Amino acid sequence: MRLLLLSPVIHLLLFLIRPSLAVDFLFNSFAGADNVSDVLLINDARVQSSVVRLSNDSVQWSYGRAFFPSRITMRGAAQTNSIALTSFRTQFVFSILPQIDTSPGFGLAFVLSNSTSPPGAIASQYFGLFSSKAFPPAFPLLAVEFDTGRNQELKDPDDNHVGIDLNNIESVITQPAGYYNSSGDFVPFRMRTGQNVHAWIEFDGINLEINVTIAPLGVSRPSRPLISYRDPNISKYVSDEMYVGFSASKTNWIEAQRVLAWSFSDVGAAHEINTTNLPVFLPESSSSRLFAGAIVGISIACLIFVLIVASACYWCWWRKKKAEQQVDEIEDWELEYWPHRFSYDDLAQATDGFSDERLLGSGGFGKVYKATLANNSEVAVKCVNHNSKQGLREFMAEISSMGRLQHKNLVQMKGWCRRGNELMLIYDYMPNGSLNRWIFDNPEKPLEWEHRRKILTDVAEGLNYLHHGWDQVVIHRDIKSSNVLLDSDMRGRLGDFGLAKLYQHGEVPNTTRVVGTLGYLAPELVKVAVPSEASDVYSFGVVVLEVVCGRRPIELSANEDETVLVDWVRNLYSKGTIREAVDERINGECSMEEVEVVLKLGLACCHPDPTRRPNMKDILALLLGRVEPPIPQ
Ligand SMILES: *[C@@H]1O[C@H](CO)[C@@H](O)[C@H](O)[C@H]1NC(C)=O
Ligand SMILES: *[C@@H]1O[C@H](CO)[C@@H](O)[C@H](O)[C@H]1NC(C)=O
Ligand SMILES: *[C@@H]1O[C@H](CO)[C@@H](O)[C@H](O)[C@H]1NC(C)=O
Ligand SMILES: *[C@@H]1O[C@H](CO)[C@@H](O)[C@H](O)[C@H]1NC(C)=O
Ligand SMILES: *[C@@H]1O[C@H](CO)[C@@H](O)[C@H](O)[C@H]1NC(C)=O
Ligand SMILES: *[C@@H]1O[C@H](CO)[C@@H](O)[C@H](O)[C@H]1NC(C)=O
Ligand SMILES: *[C@@H]1O[C@H](CO)[C@@H](O)[C@H](O)[C@H]1NC(C)=O
Repeated sequence: MRLLLLSPVIHLLLFLIRPSLAVDFLFNSFAGADNVSDVLLINDARVQSSVVRLSNDSVQWSYGRAFFPSRITMRGAAQTNSIALTSFRTQFVFSILPQIDTSPGFGLAFVLSNSTSPPGAIASQYFGLFSSKAFPPAFPLLAVEFDTGRNQELKDPDDNHVGIDLNNIESVITQPAGYYNSSGDFVPFRMRTGQNVHAWIEFDGINLEINVTIAPLGVSRPSRPLISYRDPNISKYVSDEMYVGFSASKTNWIEAQRVLAWSFSDVGAAHEINTTNLPVFLPESSSSRLFAGAIVGISIACLIFVLIVASACYWCWWRKKKAEQQVDEIEDWELEYWPHRFSYDDLAQATDGFSDERLLGSGGFGKVYKATLANNSEVAVKCVNHNSKQGLREFMAEISSMGRLQHKNLVQMKGWCRRGNELMLIYDYMPNGSLNRWIFDNPEKPLEWEHRRKILTDVAEGLNYLHHGWDQVVIHRDIKSSNVLLDSDMRGRLGDFGLAKLYQHGEVPNTTRVVGTLGYLAPELVKVAVPSEASDVYSFGVVVLEVVCGRRPIELSANEDETVLVDWVRNLYSKGTIREAVDERINGECSMEEVEVVLKLGLACCHPDPTRRPNMKDILALLLGRVEPPIPQ
């Protein structure tokens, strides 16, 4: 409650030249702030223990916005016919803390908006402000994004950047997060660690320029801004009066986006925020930090010691690694693993020195090249980076057992090669590429229904083999249409065992890192992070829906209730109009009863309760036409 001191100090002055109200306020804390009279909390935003939390952890698609309750006059009477706007300055302190540090992030945005509810905003991504890249709202909206997730589709440079958005989620300018120190060097830092970040924004309404500066709390204000963006067009995105505040959103992945303090002024410098007693939100494990004050001295001493030891170790390691890379030596343990070892030189020659022209794609685990071996056979070479020898050895043990998996519906592994800590896996080359290309990138020549059904059956056979056909259960963990490859006979084969792990039958797998692809992940994985046969079945169900409906699992350009494929189909099913979901391109060319059966099978696989999903044996039997379809609930 000590933090209440200055909050909120709001001066509303009558300005003489412009018949508008000047706005100048400081929230050094939000303790006791009242909705509507102090701050306007939209949707899931709440004031919680003196800070504003923008999203709600227990809501799956959550978004929230917090605005200053009255609009700011951005174009006074004197300015109506010019492009000039009101200038303002603001500073605030925010904290972004994902629950799982490897999960995709979202971040938050400082926003000027004509309305507290921008039309078309979706609740999952895009800071709860935009609908999608393809449909920018025809709406005055200007945002400064503090983005902690990378969305390549939007040309995000990385998962830790600051950008300016004009009515469009695709930023007009972005910069990696960091600041320029007093000697002019760029010092990068990560925003999604929970540490408090101090941000300053200056908006020059005469020259139409926005400056954004950020620094970790405790670093004094950098004199050079991180972003300085000048563009007369800014005027188009600002209406006469605008709400000013913050917005954020999240999906399954929990991320706490907090605003701790905020000051704003359109008459002069914004009030300085007193940062001495701001709360700190760090991951649970570092909560001992609260005692930091007392042990700071000891820590520094320890740190120096650790640094010396660490750099010594690093130096040894580096020398060793260097030596390793020079001699492509074979270590004893490698001989245990199956004999098919390729030489690095052969692979380099077969891929023209790993040239970009040979690149087939780059996935989560590394790049894949097309290689032509000396005997003219074509293979795909997947390069996997691994950072420790121990890890590599375990990985090899796994991979070698994978090498023994043989099935007509799996992409066959042919061999491997190691160089330093880089591992190369050699697979059969699949001339027809991946299934998603056939479904989505080929609108002129869509796949016929018979083909689609055949490929789904192939995938089911492959997956059934992994789950039930071997002495160990193999959980694939990353089933998606881009991992289904088509061979020269258009037969579907499951690829990418890079993520798969082996489990003994009946043994409880333990893993703490969630792997997989958004859109295909079973809902229970977010809570328990333990992949199972049922979670594979879920992902398979998503692929089935994708193939039958000709839609991606998450279609951001669709209406809000059509964004998530599984939910959309389930809705149509409950309305009794499931046939509307079927891809128009196959309509009419086949029996709709048959298509409907497969669609319902897909839904049954995506049952939210893992225990009620069918297993691969039943699914396969159904696809082969041997049993009656299940009823999805
Ligand atoms: C705050 O007030 C607005 C406007 O009355 C309302 O829509 C919103 O739900 C309220 N938020 C909370 C958290 O009560
Ligand atoms: C978050 O959402 C849940 C479920 O809707 C609700 O019970 C809870 O009160 C919300 N939490 C806050 C802090 O609003
Ligand atoms: C901004 O909002 C106001 C009030 O809701 C509305 O009258 C005005 O038309 C909006 N301006 C634009 C450009 O949409
Ligand atoms: C600024 O950062 C650079 C690189 O991190 C560092 O070498 C330099 O000492 C820093 N300057 C000051 C004044 O801290
Ligand atoms: C923005 O930054 C530039 C470059 O440092 C500076 O010249 C300009 O005066 C700044 N503008 C404002 C409004 O602070
Ligand atoms: C402003 O908008 C016009 C037309 O939309 C465009 O041609 C121009 O490049 C924009 N200016 C800047 C600086 O982006
Ligand atoms: C900041 O707040 C602390 C107590 O929370 C107080 O002791 C200190 O004087 C304040 N500093 C300024 C500059 O107001």
